[in-house]
Amino acid sequence: MSLNQSIKVLFITPEITPLLKTGGLADVSAALPAALRDHKVDVRVLLPGYPRVMDGLKHKRLLATLTDTGVHGEVKLLEAELPGSGVPLLVIDYPPFYERDGGPYLDHNGLDWVDNAHRFALLSKVGAILGSTKSPLGWRPDIVQCNDWQSGLTPAYLHFSPAPNAATIMTIHNMAFQGTFPASLTTPLGLPASSYNINGMEYYGQLSFLKAGLFYANHITTVSPTYAEEIQQAPLGFGMQGLLAHRYLDLTGIVNGIDINEWNPAADKLLDHNYSVDNLAGKAANKRALQNKLGLTENPDIPLLGVISRLTHQKGLDLLPTIASFLLEYPVQIVILGSGEAGLEASFLQLAQNHPDQVATVIGFNEALSHQIEAGADIFLMPSRFEPCGLNQMYSQCYGTPPIVHSTGGLVDTVVDATPENIANGTATGFIFTHATTHGLNECIHRALDIYRDQPTWRKLQSNGMRRDFGWNKSAEEYLALYEMILKSF
Ligand code: ADP
Ligand code: GLC
Repeated sequence: MSLNQSIKVLFITPEITPLLKTGGLADVSAALPAALRDHKVDVRVLLPGYPRVMDGLKHKRLLATLTDTGVHGEVKLLEAELPGSGVPLLVIDYPPFYERDGGPYLDHNGLDWVDNAHRFALLSKVGAILGSTKSPLGWRPDIVQCNDWQSGLTPAYLHFSPAPNAATIMTIHNMAFQGTFPASLTTPLGLPASSYNINGMEYYGQLSFLKAGLFYANHITTVSPTYAEEIQQAPLGFGMQGLLAHRYLDLTGIVNGIDINEWNPAADKLLDHNYSVDNLAGKAANKRALQNKLGLTENPDIPLLGVISRLTHQKGLDLLPTIASFLLEYPVQIVILGSGEAGLEASFLQLAQNHPDQVATVIGFNEALSHQIEAGADIFLMPSRFEPCGLNQMYSQCYGTPPIVHSTGGLVDTVVDATPENIANGTATGFIFTHATTHGLNECIHRALDIYRDQPTWRKLQSNGMRRDFGWNKSAEEYLALYEMILKSF
């Protein structure tokens, strides 16, 4: 391939905004391909045809019918465009695996679908077919970029199929999700018995889709430079640190961007009042609207802390209820939007019940409210124990809502701590604490509240954050340079 031509990339994902989202991967899967297309990369996105994908796409055209995918019957491949950006999509239409109510990974009871190994092996397999000479399409990718464990088998399938094939990248969004299944599935999933090996996809007596990707891909990326370092060691390597450290020359951290069209307080249609760095009056109006909507005391001077998160151990929010009982003796308000572990949901609901004027808890996934919290809160809380990249800390900086974050992963790569030095040199945008403990978080909240009382300094933090460019442009350029480098040596 001549590098003067467009590089062709097949981007495989299990979720994509606005069709189906459980977390940041969906946002990245929509925004990164769009940004790459602006850089003349010919990207197409492959994903499963869940009901929300099929219903959300108006014009679908049959592209091909695939056989030899390892499942019974025909698998149809449809072509469509992502609403909004028009990014080309390739949708796998296979009702026995994808046409069901419930989430993409979990059933109604919150349990993994029992056939997840087969559901995502099919996604991986179709990705491998499209990246090989067996592809029925005229379009053949130079690179297949896999995202998280759900497409982790693609590099393995391609490794064991006759060349020439596309080069593969395994992009890690979260090492905590590994796709581990019984070793006995190796042959049924169409992989040679030899691949079930410590030098292969074996992981503590099981078969791991993520490890398959990390072992067989030509290159590995993750979503921030700091996380790329952290996963080469325990505990954040989740048992795969040895492999990652061994492959460190093939491992690149590129920080995510955000969709600055969707997350722009000056144009955000989900807000009652738009505002910008030059006029923050609308932000105060959004705060009043949020307090009113959630039944909190309407007072512009009470600092309002916002949380929008999956409620899981990763996000460190279990530290908050312990601190809150002391914190709420001060004039402080807290708004929590999230869902996840039942115990955490219950403690936040209890907190709101005990302090109805000061705390509001909304359990569930609510896109509009998430924008209104980013705009209406004064401070954003993100005490994640680990965070491969994180998006909300970037949204909050754009919305003039300085974040409090734990010193980990993408959080340290995207937030500048309000040390006296950083305040003086005009770079501070938020607050970083070192130890993910109640003490560490509590101290940091008080540090932020002290500065909040010094309104001129607070305005500077807001303005420093709002003036930063978190768009995808720079990251897309880094991906493009990486693609070129991989193809040169492939
Ligand atoms: P992760 O993918 O680990 O959950 P990120 O910060 O990368 O973390 O992305 C989370 C995304 O999901 C953000 O866009 C955030 O606003 C959104 N989100 C999380 N929980 C909710 C919720 N309950 N309602 C609306 N949006 C949510
Ligand atoms: C994962 C990570 C999060 C990251 C997102 C998108 O869900 O937990 O930190 O921002 O993927 O890359």
